[in-house]
Amino acid sequence: MASSEQLKALIKSHLSGDDDRFLSVALQVAAHEAKIGHGKLAIELRDLVEKARKSKKLQSVPVSIAKGVKDASGLLYATTPSARLADLVTTRAIEEQLIRVIREQRHLAKLKNHGLEPRRRLLLVGAPGTGKTFTASVLAGELGYPLFQVRLDAVITKFMGESSAKLRQIFDAIREVRGVYFFDEFDALGSQRSSSNDVGEARRILNSFLQMIEQDDSNSVIVCATNHAQMLDYALFRRFDDVIQYHLPGKDDIQRLFNNRLKPYMDNSVPVDKMAVLAEGLSSAEVTQAAQDAIKEMLIHGHEKVTQDDLQSAIEDRRRMSHQVHKQG
Ligand SMILES: Nc1ncnc2c1ncn2[C@@H]1O[C@H](COP(=O)(O)OP(=O)(O)O)[C@@H](O)[C@H]1O
Ligand SMILES: [Mg+2]
Repeated sequence: MASSEQLKALIKSHLSGDDDRFLSVALQVAAHEAKIGHGKLAIELRDLVEKARKSKKLQSVPVSIAKGVKDASGLLYATTPSARLADLVTTRAIEEQLIRVIREQRHLAKLKNHGLEPRRRLLLVGAPGTGKTFTASVLAGELGYPLFQVRLDAVITKFMGESSAKLRQIFDAIREVRGVYFFDEFDALGSQRSSSNDVGEARRILNSFLQMIEQDDSNSVIVCATNHAQMLDYALFRRFDDVIQYHLPGKDDIQRLFNNRLKPYMDNSVPVDKMAVLAEGLSSAEVTQAAQDAIKEMLIHGHEKVTQDDLQSAIEDRRRMSHQVHKQG
């Protein structure tokens, strides 16, 4: 077994796109395994490294994080999600839209060779907690790309010129480092917050952002999300390759969310379909939280399984909180 230092070095070198370093650490692991008597494993590892060195594949590894991008002055927050499409509970139509994006990304070179552009600019529209951020993670997870969440609060400054310069910096990173770039609540760029309370200026920042999206010719996936359905009216469509609209989960979706989350813990006697009816009106995020609350209760009380009572009271709590939030909002 590789040491924790070696594991860390492997991950770091992979993330920084340093293939030579990655392979040299892999060789160190092989040497270590040989020393502790795992000869067969050592030989296997060494052969893998040799094959990788020879293979051209190495040059087309999609993720290679250029130096300096990590600290693009705090504008990007990078993670490597492991979420998969199967974790996302959604309609068949949305699933197909996402599958198409993933497939076109995977065949990017082939499409480009024939002058075709893969779909890679997505606009996700929907109420809070319907899975927009989660979708960005799923895309990154499925594609094996890093996820860069753009910190719009850091982009938005009082000075129009600064905001534009920061946006340009982000689009430089988008070109340099292939990944999924997520602009959450991107419409905030057009709010008055973004420039000394001047509506005209704010609108110009949003427009220049949309232009940058349109002009971007990178291989990265750009995902923008908004809670405001009215953004749909705002001549946005043509800037994006796909617009995906999210809705609150229906009864069957809720049942799937519960089953996904609770499967290993749930008592067979829990009537999940009835619980789903009880949870109707909650967002997917709230349903997920209710399931997690029920598991916590089970653990804290030292029970073996989540009971109907646990789940029911977790749902009722979430409903109360949800009402509270909506009243305030
Ligand atoms: N459609 C969904 N399918 C599965 N899990 C979901 C879904 N929507 C939300 N969740 C869960 O709720 C969490 C928060 O949702 P999020 O994606 O942040 O919602 P949004 O970005 O639309 O406000 C997610 O991390 C995920 O665990
Ligand atoms: Mg979100």
